[in-house]
Amino acid sequence: MTELSYENDGVSDEAIGDPWGISDETRDALADRLGRARQSVIDGHSSGNLGFLGLPDANPSGLTAWAHRKREGRWTDAVVIGIGGSSLGTEAIFQSADSSQLDGLNLHFSSNIDPRSVDRLLDTVPLDTTLFIVVTKSGTTVETMSQFAIIFERLVDQLGSGRAAAQIIAVTSPDSGELRSLADRHGFESFDIPPNVGGRFSVLTPVGLVPLALAGYPIQELLDGAASMRDRFLERDPENNAILRAAGDIFSLYQRGMQELVLMNYADDLEGLGEWFRQLIGESLAKAENRRADTVHAGITPIAATGAVDQHSQVQLFMEGPDRRLVIFGGLDTFDADIEIPDHALPERLNHLAGHSLADVMDAERTATREALQEAGRPTAELMLPDLRPASIGAFVIFWESATAILGELLDIDAFNQPGVERGKRIAHEKLL
Ligand code: PA5
Repeated sequence: MTELSYENDGVSDEAIGDPWGISDETRDALADRLGRARQSVIDGHSSGNLGFLGLPDANPSGLTAWAHRKREGRWTDAVVIGIGGSSLGTEAIFQSADSSQLDGLNLHFSSNIDPRSVDRLLDTVPLDTTLFIVVTKSGTTVETMSQFAIIFERLVDQLGSGRAAAQIIAVTSPDSGELRSLADRHGFESFDIPPNVGGRFSVLTPVGLVPLALAGYPIQELLDGAASMRDRFLERDPENNAILRAAGDIFSLYQRGMQELVLMNYADDLEGLGEWFRQLIGESLAKAENRRADTVHAGITPIAATGAVDQHSQVQLFMEGPDRRLVIFGGLDTFDADIEIPDHALPERLNHLAGHSLADVMDAERTATREALQEAGRPTAELMLPDLRPASIGAFVIFWESATAILGELLDIDAFNQPGVERGKRIAHEKLL
């Protein structure tokens, strides 16, 4: 398999000079700290406190067989009801696939409680042949549990309580939370979210694997790609370790005042992964206090952009606006479909486009935008995926999860909690009492 590659010439002092350019001395000075950060992530993994790095080793054959039986049965559709880490990753991976090539159930997502969207969804799916996968680790999230209540009551009204219960699949904590109690009481089929894996790190648990398997997505290949990226992260020396190099660049620039991290992917099918990345970086690294309880208000604002469309939208800001961001360009080494621009159809002034394929043009647009930013002295890097195969997507997931964990160590914050989110959740419940 060709590897996911990270290239960072555009952050070096030779490329962009002061104030952002990173020198070899700066890299050398950070090397020990990066090594210690990796060791502490490895220790967390070995002690079982940090679950996400072990997830790629799961054997999904039981789950695949279960999903196969469901797909062979009378079910046509499945709806994921969940929000944030309980759905963004699943939706992103599903979007990256060519759904016409998946031979499973039609998969839908319902996160927001916008009444029009929920109403539309319930009008769209055939109620008696649809499975509803309710995903919530806490079991108390307002958006998810409100939708569950509406759907369950509708199912009970139309089909009776026995059949209704057979259409709900609960994905939640193994032995705590309101959804777990409901699952036990009504006899819903259920899957566990491991306690040592937080929401936004959970896409390789049943949170993502259950819906993806029902849709017919090859989850074993996804896990294989994640495992091989994880092994490279654990084994390779820092200079050849893409995750450590990326985390080191982001941290060095953050120390100099960088406030925004842009991931600009030149592929429509990576858009969902951009949104997943945004949550991962935003929620994990923004913390009021560090681990010693000093007030730090750490955080990096993540921005997801899509090339080439955002060249006509956000790039003017990246190029000439406040100088405070790293832009990581992403894309695919190969598109599995391509179209050539024909001869003779264009006016003479544009004839140089003829004969190029759209993938060539995409490539030229990406490299040109990067070059222009570099000329303006702005830091850039590149993170390319070989293709959209599940193994590449699994590698991408582990890349950013591990880089986030390393950044948490470097910033000396807890990257795995979200007290700000919890505060809002609590007040929302209080308002609705
Ligand atoms: O990453 C996180 O922890 C959050 O985004 C949660 O996933 C999100 O708030 C949903 O929580 P829950 O799974 O408890 O419904």
